[in-house]
Amino acid sequence: MRIVVLAGGTSTERDVSLVTGYRVCESLRRNGHDANMLDIFLGIDDGAVATFFTEKNDLGELSDNLKKRTKDIPEEVSKRTKNRESFFGPNVLELCKKADIVFMGLHGSNGEDGKVQATFDLLGIRYTGTDYLSSAISMSKELAKKVLVPEGIPMPKGLTLHKGHKIEYVPYPCVVKPCCGGSSVGVSIANNEQEFKSALDEAFSYEDTVLVEEFVDGREFSVAVLDGKALPVIEIEPLEGFYDYKNKYKAGSTKETCPADIPEDVASQMQFWAEKCCQAAGVTTYARVDELLDKEGNIFCLEINTLPGMTDTSLIPQEAAAVGISYDELTEKIIEISLAKYE
Ligand SMILES: Nc1ncnc2c1ncn2[C@@H]1O[C@H](COP(=O)(O)OP(=O)(O)O)[C@@H](O)[C@H]1O
Ligand SMILES: [Mg+2]
Repeated sequence: MRIVVLAGGTSTERDVSLVTGYRVCESLRRNGHDANMLDIFLGIDDGAVATFFTEKNDLGELSDNLKKRTKDIPEEVSKRTKNRESFFGPNVLELCKKADIVFMGLHGSNGEDGKVQATFDLLGIRYTGTDYLSSAISMSKELAKKVLVPEGIPMPKGLTLHKGHKIEYVPYPCVVKPCCGGSSVGVSIANNEQEFKSALDEAFSYEDTVLVEEFVDGREFSVAVLDGKALPVIEIEPLEGFYDYKNKYKAGSTKETCPADIPEDVASQMQFWAEKCCQAAGVTTYARVDELLDKEGNIFCLEINTLPGMTDTSLIPQEAAAVGISYDELTEKIIEISLAKYE
C-alpha cells in the first residue's frame, strides 16, 4: 500500500511525533509498504512529490532535519496565521489524497484533537485511528470528564480554571495541567500556595484553560485498547519524581512492567475501565488510557490518548509485545482495523 506517515506539526509534542513517525514508517517499510514520512506543517517541495512513495530515503536523517526546524515553527505559525495561510504544508493534502491510507503519527493539538480527522473526512482521505469527534472529546480533559464521569468512570475530582479567574482555596497537594496538552507538558504537582501559583503560571503559558485536580497518591498504570479490547496493564514507575516529559522520553528514567505486578482482579478492573472509557467517548481503533491506583485500592482514570506514542520507549508497543504482538504486527493491525472502518 502507499502510505503517508504524518508527523511533526505544531504541537508541544512535535519532536515526540517525529520519533513516532520515524519508527512507524520504518516498520511499514519492513512490512512491504511504500511508506514515507511527511511533516504535516512543513510539507515538501514540488520536486519531491513524484518520487515520494517510491524513494527509500534515510528516515533517521529526515527525522533529524525536521527536528532541527522545530525552533522556527512558532514564527512560521504566526506568519501563516497573519496571512491566513493553510496549516497544511506544501503538497501535504495532495500526497495524502494519493495514499491508500494516512498513518497518523501526530500527537497533541492539530493532529490528536480531531481537526485533521474532520478535514480528511471531508476530503475523502483515509486515516488511522479514531474519528474527529472522539478525538476532540478525548483531547480536552475538561470535556472528557463531562462525558466519562456520568458513565460511572472514576476520575480525580477537580475543577477547570480559565485565564484571569481566581480560586480561593485548593486542598494540597494538587495537580495543575493544561486542558488539552499531552506528554505532561505544563503539568505540575503543587504542595502549597506558592507552588500552586507557579504551577498555574506554567500551565497558563501553554493554554487559556487549565485543570486543577486532587493529587492521587499511588501507583501509575496505562492500558491500551486495541479494536475495543484492552491489552495487558503496564505499570509505570519513574525513578525520580512523577511521570513528566523527561521521564516519559529519556530511556532508563522510568521502570515499566508489563503485565503489571498487581492482583488479577485489579488488572481486570483497570482493563474494564479502559474499554469503558473508549466506548463512552466513542473511541475506536486504538488508544491508551492512563490510570492511577491509590493506597486504598481505588482506581482513577486520568485520560484517553487517542494517538498514543509509538517511540522506542512508548507503552503501547510494550503492551502489545506482552500478548505476542510485535511492533511490525501492531502497525499492520492498526492499518487493518482503520481500513475496516471504511468498508
Ligand atoms: N490527579 C492526579 N494525581 C496524581 N498524578 C497525576 C494526576 N493527574 C496527572 N498526574 C500525573 O501527571 C501525568 C500527566 O497527566 P495526564 O493527565 O496523563 O496528562 P498528559 O496528557 O500530559 O499525559 C500523569 O501521567 C501522572 O503522572
Ligand atoms: Mg497522560
